[in-house]
Amino acid sequence: MSDATARIQTPYLLAEDELDRSLRPRRLEEFIGQEALREQLLVAIEAAGARGEALDHLLLAGPPGLGKTSLAQIVAAELEVPFVQTAGPALERKGDIAAFLTALEPRSVFFVDEIHRLPRALEETFYPAMEDLRLPITVGQGAGARVVTLDLPPFTLIGATTRSGLLTTPLRDRFGIQARLEPYSPHELAAIVRRSAAILRIELQDGGALAIAQRSRGTPRVANRLLKRVRDYAEVRMQGVISAEAADAALTLLEVDERGLDRLDREILHAICVKFAGGPVGLSTLAVAVGEEQDTLEDVYEPYLLQEGLIKRTPRGRAATAAAFEHIGLPAPSGAEAALF
Ligand SMILES: Nc1ncnc2c1ncn2[C@@H]1O[C@H](COP(=O)(O)OP(=O)(O)OP(=O)(O)O)[C@@H](O)[C@H]1O
Ligand SMILES: [Mg+2]
Repeated sequence: MSDATARIQTPYLLAEDELDRSLRPRRLEEFIGQEALREQLLVAIEAAGARGEALDHLLLAGPPGLGKTSLAQIVAAELEVPFVQTAGPALERKGDIAAFLTALEPRSVFFVDEIHRLPRALEETFYPAMEDLRLPITVGQGAGARVVTLDLPPFTLIGATTRSGLLTTPLRDRFGIQARLEPYSPHELAAIVRRSAAILRIELQDGGALAIAQRSRGTPRVANRLLKRVRDYAEVRMQGVISAEAADAALTLLEVDERGLDRLDREILHAICVKFAGGPVGLSTLAVAVGEEQDTLEDVYEPYLLQEGLIKRTPRGRAATAAAFEHIGLPAPSGAEAALF
């Protein structure tokens, strides 16, 4: 295992798929938060259902763990239609797409995760499929080759992406509903943690739920992970009850600080502040400095640090703010921030 792979094993990124599955909300009414989006989907789903039509194509963008896959599955469940799933990198040839689309039952949800990683040449295959339910394909070879147009059943394409910026405009424009999932409030996260605790039969006090919520960086997946880890601590040290004190003690032991930053977050801040004198520093250089994949930094770590106002994006790279220096216990270089931004 390379060093970079080993480092991915942070509390946030452990592949606990089983946990994700068991705690995944199944219906829209179980899905907490994202009120505006939920309302929008509720109306669109009901209207499509009443007309007996497929729902408009839906693009779900947002950082990892905010509920994109959950929502896609929920939409299929609410529409009472089959859910067929693949991911951008798994679609290599036009034939892969054709195989999926021609086999769909009418009105199915076809979920393409990581749609920004769809090979560029294949994006165009989706255009007529999304617009006119047509799929032109070439059959035969050489002089005998001809284009045959396949008719497709009506379907709903749901694309999920952590990087909507990487999608081409023509593809993005073909989604009738485009939604961006926003980080959850501590209040919403506390509700999610309480729901998860009930499913896992964990005894969780309100103060414990809030303590976990506040350190979950706005992300339900992180909240669920932390809940599990805090449960371990509570079982061993606190007779199984997760009080505010138990949660605080467990999270401190896990090196998740009061702002929800873990060790790697702090290493990133430390690198920018100290090694690169506050920045700006390019993302690839920073990735090498902290021994992490650039994609992981960009998808998982950076959004939260940006949101918390600890780092800034500048044309020349990432730079630390005064709050970053303060957070890692260093005096901010005077005037540094003003000069940089
Ligand atoms: N709104 C929500 N209410 C309750 N639980 C949620 C909600 N959103 C997410 N979760 C929980 O968080 C977990 C992660 O959500 P999900 O897998 O849908 O995220 P994602 O956006 O698809 O992440 P990724 O980008 O990594 O694929 C789910 O298993 C579910 O338990
Ligand atoms: Mg997902």
